[in-house]
Amino acid sequence: MQTTPFFVAGQKSTSDDVVEVRHPYDGRAVGRTANATPEQVERAVAAASAVAAEAAALPAAARAAALDHVSRRLAERADEVARLITAENGKPLKWARVEVTRGISTFRWAAEEARRFSGDLQRLDTDPAAAGRIAVVRRFPRGPVLGISPFNFPLNLVAHKVAPALAVGAPIVVKPAPATPLTALLLGSILAETDLPPGMFSVLPVPNDRAADLVADPRLPVVSFTGSGPVGFGIRDQVPRKHVTLELGGNAAALICGDWSSLEDLDWAAQRIATFSNYQAGQSCIAVQRVYVHEFLEDAFVPRLVAAVEALKTGDPSGEAVDVGPMISEDAAKRVESWVEEAVAGGATVVTGGRRTGATYLPTVLTGVPAGAKVLTEEVFGPVLAVARVADDAAGLAAVNDSAYGLQAGVFTHSLQTAFTAHRTLQVGGVIVGDVPSYRADQMPYGGVKGSGAGREGLRSAMDDYTEPRVMVLTGLDL
Ligand code: SIN
Repeated sequence: MQTTPFFVAGQKSTSDDVVEVRHPYDGRAVGRTANATPEQVERAVAAASAVAAEAAALPAAARAAALDHVSRRLAERADEVARLITAENGKPLKWARVEVTRGISTFRWAAEEARRFSGDLQRLDTDPAAAGRIAVVRRFPRGPVLGISPFNFPLNLVAHKVAPALAVGAPIVVKPAPATPLTALLLGSILAETDLPPGMFSVLPVPNDRAADLVADPRLPVVSFTGSGPVGFGIRDQVPRKHVTLELGGNAAALICGDWSSLEDLDWAAQRIATFSNYQAGQSCIAVQRVYVHEFLEDAFVPRLVAAVEALKTGDPSGEAVDVGPMISEDAAKRVESWVEEAVAGGATVVTGGRRTGATYLPTVLTGVPAGAKVLTEEVFGPVLAVARVADDAAGLAAVNDSAYGLQAGVFTHSLQTAFTAHRTLQVGGVIVGDVPSYRADQMPYGGVKGSGAGREGLRSAMDDYTEPRVMVLTGLDL
């Protein structure tokens, strides 16, 4: 088996510190790469710092051309990329294909935003003393970005760090998740085909216990992290003076309001919730974890939901028809198993699922989960759904907010007023009306409040995040 190279300042590199990547489904070796040595990391960071001024001055056409190239090449290699994602992450091929389609769109959007990213004019002659003055407000990169990405979207959550950085002309050093480096390295090989200046990007497999040195490096003033809360908040505490974006976890809720009552409505909600509590084996920060249903709809809704969950096909993720594959590791599945056991010991009922084979945990629906159980209060990051009834819509909105997290929420309602009330009162980064909280379009602002993090991704939002405004005041003009 060949060792996949990593990228130091755009150059293929390797080391003796070999890393085997294994398929989460059956443990077979699917690839191999190597960890970058401290000297290689130093070269990457020094090159990012050295190229920063040149990168910031790159014309929009050059930045957009590189981004368009990546988008086009991902489209050409879509099948290969999807199979690689499935092999190293274990997500079913059908979901890997969705991820590749999203990655293609993320880079295409970044190219479009790079062309539009022009700044604003602000009149200053609103004050008589400032006659003839106008402000030009443009945004300039804060400096090179350190992107630390998670295992659950090995392509698209790397894309959400790389694409906006290149769009604004900021060099980026990517540290992919140790479990899933190969897709990020494939992306690196496509970036290496572009005319970006050397130093503009590096993709460095680095063990997590060496990440603190990268985080601390003053030549990387922006840190964009996606992953767990303890690690994310630890980064913010480690470097309080840096610009840190944190995309952390969630325990996303869906609320079935009283007006979502036709059989068609309930079938749609059941179908969507079943699918999106189990896609990628629940390993998405916006997978549905909690469902609150108006009490007079409970008897009609819950059997529909359970039937939809039981209809999901679990198995080898390379199968075209498989909906639910393994979790990232057997340890991860054992953790979920222990959390379900804790809920059951406290009085919860397993309506379906509740069994583990190796790294695979069966799609599970729980009712009667006691307050305080981890499957309600923590991020399960597994295929487990807790269903509870609520007396009315207001109680449902309060239940959604009763969480340490706040990433996205789904509100099934036809009422415009309920939608606006939910939008105003839910403590989350996004409210999805008529669908699950798991809906994400890659161009929209995405991120959370409370324990779910700080800052927003989504191309334009991340571009704002990676840059700071600088004002130029022009004087003596006849406006
Ligand atoms: C995440 O898990 O935070 C990302 C979800 C997505 O991009 O759909």
